[in-house]
This record gives sequence, structure tokens and C-alpha cells, in this order.
Amino acid sequence: MAFMSISVAPSNAGGASGLHCVRNYTGLRPSTGLRLFNAGISIKRSSRSLVVIRASDTGEVSLKKTGLSIEECEAAVVAGNGPEAPPATPKAAAPAGTPLVQSLPLKRRPRRNRKSPALRASFQETYLTPANLVYPLFIHEGEEDTPIGAMPGCYRLGWRHGLLEEVSKARDFGVNSIVLFPKVPDALKSPIGDEAYNENGLVPRAIRLLKHKYPDLVIYTDVALDPYSSDGHDGIVREDGVIMNDETVHQLCKQAVAQARAGADVVSPSDMMDGRVRAIRAALDAERFEDVSIMSYTAKYASGFYGPFREALDSNPRFGDKKTYQMNPANYREALIETQADEAEGADILLVKPGLPYLDVVRLLRDNSSLPIAAYQVSGEYSMIKAAGVLKMIDEEKVMMESLMCLRRAGADMILTYFALQAARCLCGEKR
Ligand code: PBG
Repeated sequence: MAFMSISVAPSNAGGASGLHCVRNYTGLRPSTGLRLFNAGISIKRSSRSLVVIRASDTGEVSLKKTGLSIEECEAAVVAGNGPEAPPATPKAAAPAGTPLVQSLPLKRRPRRNRKSPALRASFQETYLTPANLVYPLFIHEGEEDTPIGAMPGCYRLGWRHGLLEEVSKARDFGVNSIVLFPKVPDALKSPIGDEAYNENGLVPRAIRLLKHKYPDLVIYTDVALDPYSSDGHDGIVREDGVIMNDETVHQLCKQAVAQARAGADVVSPSDMMDGRVRAIRAALDAERFEDVSIMSYTAKYASGFYGPFREALDSNPRFGDKKTYQMNPANYREALIETQADEAEGADILLVKPGLPYLDVVRLLRDNSSLPIAAYQVSGEYSMIKAAGVLKMIDEEKVMMESLMCLRRAGADMILTYFALQAARCLCGEKR
């Protein structure tokens, strides 16, 4: 007896099993009891999301209709009395007034390959799975989770409780990678951002707790001074307003080592200082953290799309902007210079940020590096989709999934997105 089971999505059992949740969002969903090939194969939905195809024991199911055994059927076919073909489906009527035309002499009709869900599924080039997603989470010292006004659906999570709960939910749907962003109390901010490498600071504490609870969770950290800087800049600000490069890199190395010591798997410099990847690599190696990876924000643009994030962390620059270190949105070639530098300096993953408005840059990096490419769908992109969805101007879920798929199509291996959990739920076939 043939028995084949197609796992469409895991039952929502949590933990590691959630990692295999890979139902494609445009996938087919056979209806209960569907008969395949009229040959005694039936599909049964054995639970919410598990589909089982089984060949029936005797193969007699379809023959019952004719009342003939297999032998009688075969004999009839050999004698030339085979069963009649079913009637041809009649041509569907066109509306009155449709012009009668000769068919165009087209060799290629690309629509042929789009004519049914099954064909479309066969030819789909790009897939999105929960394993491609990294979930950015905001944390704070408080006990409560506090909503972020400019990012509906996002919270500053209490590191002791809310954080653990959110991570557990994400893992249930196959998202096992997170990146942490701390909201630091003003009293701990300083011009040199030294709280960034306090080994008992919020981020190292949260990492240790998470690793204790979920040892296989992949934890990314942000390496930059802005949440810790009383100036709200990613680096140390000199009296004349210049953001100091090499001195900042020195601080970033200490920050990265403190995060590694707490158990971070991947440290992610988002500061855009020159030479920081090489310096951080050397600092990590010197402390025997050879296995800690570096995801470099390679092409990070000075973007208005970061607005909601800065509200979330209360990290707006106290003066000026970030244009002397983040890239000019008008520039494309310059991203190659950063790519070459980060590769040479030992980055493990290259990131482009923001995401959707910079698809060309994602493709540029994809085509010019063999390293994994990450794209960051940033706070402003998230909030635009949310806001338009709330106002019913767009279908939020459709646009969310499409935006993520487009980032994959442009060449992103992984996507940092505040939609990670919502999208993974959708991929796992959860109803809204
Ligand atoms: C700063 C940092 C920023 C973001 C991630 N890391 C903001 C900034 O550069 O001002 C923005 C992410 C988002 O908008 O979602 N190191």
C-alpha cells in the first residue's frame, strides 16, 4: 500500500518543529477529500494543516462506478470497447458585442504559463519562508510592554517577560532569528556612549536570559552608539560637530565584544564608520570569539524612513543629521565601494537599508558578492503599510507579503522586518 504524506505546514507545535514551516504563500491547498487522477487516491486533511495523500488499499474505488473488475476493464479495452472519453468542455460564451477576430499569429503567449494555479506554482522563481526572516525587537527596562505610537503593532518589550513571550511566539512560526534594539534611560546616555559596553547593560542581560531559555535562538545585535549617545548620533561627536571615526570604532569594538561575551551569535555594525568591520573582527578574535559573525550594514542610506524607529528609541540626533556617515540616497556606485571594503575586512553578511526603495542596491550587492545579502525593511516602510492598511487604502496582508517577496526577488537572502511574526503566521496558513 502506497502511503505518502505531504507536510504542508507543521501543526503549530512550537520549538524546533516550527522551523520547518515552509508553506509558500501562493501555494495550493487541496480541498478535503479531493480525488486525484480518479485512481483511488484521496487527500485527507488529518489536522489543521497536515495533508495526507493515501493510495486506497484495493484500487477498486473508481471501478465501482462501472461495476467492472480490473480484468474485465482491460479485456474490454483490448477488444476495442474502451470507455468513452468524457464530453469536451464547451467553449465558454463571450459577452454580447465581443468582436469576432482571427487569433493573433503569436509564437509566444506568456499567459499560457500563468493559466492555472498549478502551472503558476510550477514556474514560481522565488520563495519566502519564515527562515528568511529576522525579527527586530525593541526592549526596555520596564515590566510592561509599551506600544510604539508610530509603529502600530510594535512594542517596547519588557526584557524579562514581553521579550521572552514574543520570541516564543516567533519560534512557533519558524522565525528563530531576532535582532535587539534597546531603549536606554536618558540617565545612562553620555557623549561617549560607554553604556554600550556595560556587560550588565540591558542588551547583554537580555541576551543571557534569552540564551538560557532558548539556546538555539539566533541572536543578532546592533553595534552603534546612538541608543547610548546623549547626542543621538552613532558615533562620538567632537565640539565642532564632527562625528569622530576612529575613536568611535574603538568604542564599537568594546560594544561588540561585550555582546559576544553575553552570547550574541551575530554582531551587526549599523554605524557606517570606516574600517569598523576589520577592527571588530580583530577585537572579537583577540577574545577568542572567532565563531561570532559580523553582519555589516554595508549600504546604509541617510533615510527619512528611519523616523518611527528613532521615536521608538527616543534616539533622534540632538542636532544635525547623519549625512556625514550614512550614504546619500542618490548614490548607487558608492555602494560598491562599501561592498568591497566590507568583504575585504571580513564581513560575513552584507546588509542594505532601507529595503523596498533600494531594491536596485540589493541587486547590486547580490550580483557583486558571494556573501549572503540581507535587506532591512525599516520602520518607515512598515508604518506606511500598516497605516494604509488601517485606513483600508490597501490590503495590508497582501502588500506585506508582496513587499517581502520583492526583496527576495531582488536578491536578499534574509530580511529584517517588523512584519516577521505576522508574515510567518501568514506563511504557515494562519487566518487573519
Ligand atoms: C542606528 C539604527 C537605525 C536603525 C537601525 N539602527 C536608525 C538610524 O540610523 O538613525 C533604523 C531601523 C529602522 O528604521 O527600522 N544605528
